Amino acid sequence: MHLQHDVVCPTLIGRSSQVAAMRQILARAREGTGRVALIVGEAGVGKSRLLRAMTEEARSAGFFVLHGACFEAERSIPYAPLLDLVRLFAGSASPAVVAHVLAPAASELVAIFPELRPVLPDATPSPSVDPESDRRRLFHTLAQTFTLVARTQPVLLAFEDVHWSDDATLELVFHLARSHATLPVVIALTYRAEEVAPRLARVIADLERARVVTDLPVERLGRTDVATMLQAIFGPGGNLDAEFVHLLHGLTEGNPFFVEETLKALILAGDLAPAGVAGEWRARPLERVRVPRTAVEAVRRRLAALTVPARSVASTAAVAGRRFDFELLQRLTDHDERQLLSLVKELIAAQLVVEESAERFAFRHALTREAIYAELLARERVTLHREVAAALEQHHADALDGVVEALAYHTWEASDWERAATYAARAARHALALSAPREAIGHLDRAFAASERAGIEPSVELYVARGRTNETLGEFQRAHDDFTVALERTRAGADRRGEWDALYALGMLWSARDYARAGEYRRNALAVARALGDELLVARSLNRIGNWHVNLDEPQAGLPHHEEALAIFERLGHEPGIAETVDLLAMTHHIGGTQRAAASYFERSASLFTKMDDRRGLANALGLLALCGTSCQSAATTPFTTPIALEELRVMRSVQLAREIGWRAGEAFLRWTIADCFAGTGDYDRAIPLARESLAQAEELEHLQWTAGAHRTLGATALDLLAPGVARDHLEAAYRIARRLGSRVWIRWTAASLVLARVRMSDLPGALGLWTSAMHIAGDDAPRVGSDPASPTLTLGERHLWASRAELALVEGRPDLALEIVDARLAAERTANPESTLGVPRLSLLRADALTTLARYDEAERTLDEARDEAEAQDARPVLWRVELAVGHVHRLQRRRLEARRAFDAARAMADALAALVPDDGLRARFVEKLNSAIPSTPAPTPARAEKEALGGLTRRERDVAALVAQGKANRAIGRELGIGERTVEGYVASALAKLGFASRTQLAAWVVEKGIGRPPAVR
Ligand SMILES: Nc1ncnc2c1ncn2[C@@H]1O[C@H](COP(=O)(O)OP(=O)(O)OP(=O)(O)O)[C@@H](O)[C@H]1O
Ligand SMILES: [Mg+2]
Repeated sequence: MHLQHDVVCPTLIGRSSQVAAMRQILARAREGTGRVALIVGEAGVGKSRLLRAMTEEARSAGFFVLHGACFEAERSIPYAPLLDLVRLFAGSASPAVVAHVLAPAASELVAIFPELRPVLPDATPSPSVDPESDRRRLFHTLAQTFTLVARTQPVLLAFEDVHWSDDATLELVFHLARSHATLPVVIALTYRAEEVAPRLARVIADLERARVVTDLPVERLGRTDVATMLQAIFGPGGNLDAEFVHLLHGLTEGNPFFVEETLKALILAGDLAPAGVAGEWRARPLERVRVPRTAVEAVRRRLAALTVPARSVASTAAVAGRRFDFELLQRLTDHDERQLLSLVKELIAAQLVVEESAERFAFRHALTREAIYAELLARERVTLHREVAAALEQHHADALDGVVEALAYHTWEASDWERAATYAARAARHALALSAPREAIGHLDRAFAASERAGIEPSVELYVARGRTNETLGEFQRAHDDFTVALERTRAGADRRGEWDALYALGMLWSARDYARAGEYRRNALAVARALGDELLVARSLNRIGNWHVNLDEPQAGLPHHEEALAIFERLGHEPGIAETVDLLAMTHHIGGTQRAAASYFERSASLFTKMDDRRGLANALGLLALCGTSCQSAATTPFTTPIALEELRVMRSVQLAREIGWRAGEAFLRWTIADCFAGTGDYDRAIPLARESLAQAEELEHLQWTAGAHRTLGATALDLLAPGVARDHLEAAYRIARRLGSRVWIRWTAASLVLARVRMSDLPGALGLWTSAMHIAGDDAPRVGSDPASPTLTLGERHLWASRAELALVEGRPDLALEIVDARLAAERTANPESTLGVPRLSLLRADALTTLARYDEAERTLDEARDEAEAQDARPVLWRVELAVGHVHRLQRRRLEARRAFDAARAMADALAALVPDDGLRARFVEKLNSAIPSTPAPTPARAEKEALGGLTRRERDVAALVAQGKANRAIGRELGIGERTVEGYVASALAKLGFASRTQLAAWVVEKGIGRPPAVR
């Protein structure tokens, strides 16, 4: 059967408003604003046709166009349309261009699609971190890819038939749309209005909310349009009468696919034929025409006109899918190559099938395949699906992984339940590895249904796998049901190993809901592991229990569990276990406020992770190691700085590592930790931008902990910069998140700073209320060591809270209470860190303030000397100028005016040096303004007068620095010599200049020589 005439409309009919809208989208894109075009309408109405017009228009306007399609049979394969897009692109451009364009995402692409290796031969698959990070990295690098192209050329990304898209691709599309809204990138999607699944509806709603969408609804054609269409198909001489047009329009309701198919059926039946006169066509008298009533019928009639073997090939191919491989078809049909080729040619001639490549053919239209498939009897379908499955198994015998989704589909449709269950479980595993839990759950549900039909009891592992997937999807109840069945089954079958799995999973599941219950499951898991005598499981269970305590801010209770776990892993020589446990121990000590121990464990875990090439573990350990040194985080306890930590702050290796492995949450976390360290030393030019980057990234990832962390650092910084209002906003946000997280650790960390913000905003009742609730968190029935500030085992959060409580007491007018708290805390710190020279300068400063209020000036002065030494030793510049200010006040109260003035001037100079580092104009201006009122100003002394004052009132440190300046050394070299930071040196130089009333280093040098100030003593 041959259709001599091509019955496909060569031009685009109607659609003027859609074309106008589409042109506007392209024009706006060229000006830099991206948009998402949604081409939507019923099946066969002309969506693809309109999209084709759009891509043609875009190409000729200089757009870079990429095109991918979704297929019904592939809807359960994660990222299938993306793979299609890349393949089509690779088939249409030179290898060099393909490699160049896809370079940013190449490693990710070959990692998820090994089949792309021939296309991207130079890419090395990037190592997998965890499915979630892998997914984010893929999104990120693809966004980068298109961003790069868009710098030189506008981009159009088209995805066809997204009603058949997998969820992972939909999320990708949403991500791209959002990240490209301000770039010349247009995304066009087509979908059938009647087949929108809830997930697609949600993505469309999200896109609409993001205001990036233009709807291009495609309606059926009107009668005039159908007439124009006939003219376009049959030529101007076709001359079909009005009555025929009327009939055709009424019958097809203006659906162009139906119009074309009906015409083909009529031509085949001889009801519509050339009339002899050149170019003219005539339809038989209408009453004698048997017109098809549906598009399906129209296709079916054409099918009836095919030869028997061609019809059978068409049916087999329709079962295989919209697209089919020639080789597979050959396996399925027993025809030799020549025979099959001629049959396929017959299908092409009948305009049912088109050639996609040498190996691949496709039905001309999705509806064509649907019509042919619908024609088959249920029995025939079952048989054909079984044959397709068998052919696939043979054809891909050594790479079944690539076709498990297809096998799951065909075996299911073939009612081959046993194999359907097996393949569905494998397809689920594949989806989980690609972090596509929705696809996975679809496969898992099928695996269960197939097992049931096969009369097989699903395995415990299958229950646990589905439970985990449900957990990922936030389906608590379902996850719980699955784990519970697994638990019951294993208990009934005395399968203790399986029982451990189920208990372990339940312990993790309940953590987010009911921490007490989570603890019970974890302890039960430990009991089972012990009963089994399986040391590895015992150690893993111990770590879970330890971590459970740590998250409850009970590090002391967690410690012995981790220690026992470590001993076991060491005995077994289990390296990953050792590394993980050492890291957990480090965290336990950090949360326990014992930074020295924490740092030494982090150094150990860092070196273990290095050995194992675990870059994620290494990055994490480096960031936390830095946090154990001078930082806002460690400001309420004795910090511990190591050379590795200092190096980390210099080169930010951890952030680099996180970026390398695409661990975005890690990047947010590490920027936060480093920002927090810089905030502790007053390096605001680095701290503030880093904290803001961390915040933006954490918010984008919706990562609650790091969002809270970044807010807390920004809040603490604002407190130091005398902007309590700004601080309060950040800290309220951080505290709200901590409450949402339900983590005692985070509640205390954030509440302590928020208490200070409230104190400084004079909200004393609010501060006290918050302090009390954070100290005694509800549901906390364990006896609280935290209620005694002298306790040597306070957690880091409790230490912060006590420091805040002391400041609150001072403002409440209870200096003796403040003193009592601070003395207790300082004594505990000294006992715990006998050999440390670092101390807790913020506490010492508070102590001095309390003593000053109590008019115990001599003690206050001595304490301030200590505070100064401590702050200098840890380069805590935000404390240093406050110490000088406090010294000024003590002197003033003692009427030692000259010394008071010198101290105030020094404070001012140091604070000004810090102000110069604040990159935010508003914050800086406010800080300077507040300094004006906080530090009593005095006229600058004349140089003559300064000379009179023996050594100009310079402190020892200032004199040391001045002496080195006189030797012509730069600040950096001076810092190195004195073992302090470059910025600190800057501060000393500034304060020395201010005290002496000099404007330049040369003057200072001359003064040193004149006074005969010698070399400073060696480093302390
Ligand atoms: N405006 C039009 N002018 C001319 N021909 C058209 C027009 N719209 C559709 N057609 C023709 O009708 C047929 C079906 O159109 P198309 O493939 O675009 O439908 P669709 O909406 O994408 O259907 P599906 O939902 O099945 O993908 C095609 O052969 C196409 O060329
Ligand atoms: Mg289409």
